[in-house]
Amino acid sequence: MKAVKIEKTGGPEVLKVEEITLGKPGNDEVLIEHVAIGLNYIDTYHRSGLYPLTLPTGIGIEASGIIKEVGPNVSEFSLGDKIAYAGQPLGAYCTHRIYPTKNLVKVPENIDLNNIATLMTKGLTVFYLLYKTYAVKAGETVLFHAAAGGVGQIFCQWAKSLNVKVIGTVGSDKKIDLAKKYGCNEVINYSKEDFAKKVMELTNGKGVPVVYDGVGKSTFEKSCECLQVRGTMISFGNASGALDPIDVPKVLQPKGLYFVRPSMQQYLRTNKELNEATNMLFEKISSGKIKIEIFKKYKLDEVETAHRDLQARKVIGPAVIIP
Ligand SMILES: NC(=O)c1ccc[n+]([C@@H]2O[C@H](COP(=O)([O-])OP(=O)(O)OC[C@H]3O[C@@H](n4cnc5c(N)ncnc54)[C@H](OP(=O)(O)O)[C@@H]3O)[C@@H](O)[C@H]2O)c1
Repeated sequence: MKAVKIEKTGGPEVLKVEEITLGKPGNDEVLIEHVAIGLNYIDTYHRSGLYPLTLPTGIGIEASGIIKEVGPNVSEFSLGDKIAYAGQPLGAYCTHRIYPTKNLVKVPENIDLNNIATLMTKGLTVFYLLYKTYAVKAGETVLFHAAAGGVGQIFCQWAKSLNVKVIGTVGSDKKIDLAKKYGCNEVINYSKEDFAKKVMELTNGKGVPVVYDGVGKSTFEKSCECLQVRGTMISFGNASGALDPIDVPKVLQPKGLYFVRPSMQQYLRTNKELNEATNMLFEKISSGKIKIEIFKKYKLDEVETAHRDLQARKVIGPAVIIP
């Protein structure tokens, strides 16, 4: 059994693979053998210290696997069940782990465990972004940054299935076709073009009702320029760095904008919320509305490379770590 640990925060080199031994699962816990682990940008924030953790710690927020042992109080899961999870406690980068049942979901037979390992965080995030943080309406046009990325590919497909048009941004020309393939209606290379100007052109000067921004520091102010009066700015990530303090009179006040900084945990607080979100996600996958192609499978021993690739913008779509 192996697990990735960090003793100190820093660059990808702080990720260390260690041999581990596990005890028995406690009352409401199970022992899981992982099949695949999701690679997420948030893992780099945990590793770098942008999102502070108590050290030493495991890392990784989602995985899929098979239940190998159940704790004494567990009745809703059995040996051999195919499961997946996203969220706390951290420590998904491992071959085996003991995990509380409250965050687990059973994976339907028709859904591949490699795919679901990378869809729990990304897919459930797209769910709350489209239905909860801002409830999109058919016919609307929205702006989504990093549209060819892991969350981006799923967002574009899900939005299309709701008849929502997506203007997507990408950082290089080679990502344009990919974003279109996954349902983006218009794609802007924001490393070459002024995306705010282009969004205004594409919307006949009207702007969009909502911007989904996982890029953060480098896109925030221009994203607000893309919004209509009373539009909603959803800042859900920091791929380019954390946001600077917001100049409210300059950025939000002129158009009376709404600003939200959500995270997945806030939308999956109860079993009811988790079930509603996962059922919708499973339905979108089963009906073929969301298809995913794993961009790359890294081995657990290659975790350092995986983080370097992710931060170098080389991971184009959902990727997994195979323990
Ligand atoms: N709040 C939540 O609940 C939640 C949950 C899940 C994910 N997220 C956030 O969603 C975003 C996407 O996550 P993901 O795992 O799917 O990652 P990803 O989109 O596959 O990778 C991040 C992308 O951001 C873009 N980017 C722009 N500026 C960058 C920079 N300076 N350095 C690195 N990348 C830059 C790159 O795409 P281009 O080359 O096309 O610009 C890069 O590929 C992340 O910010 C993540 O933290 C938030």
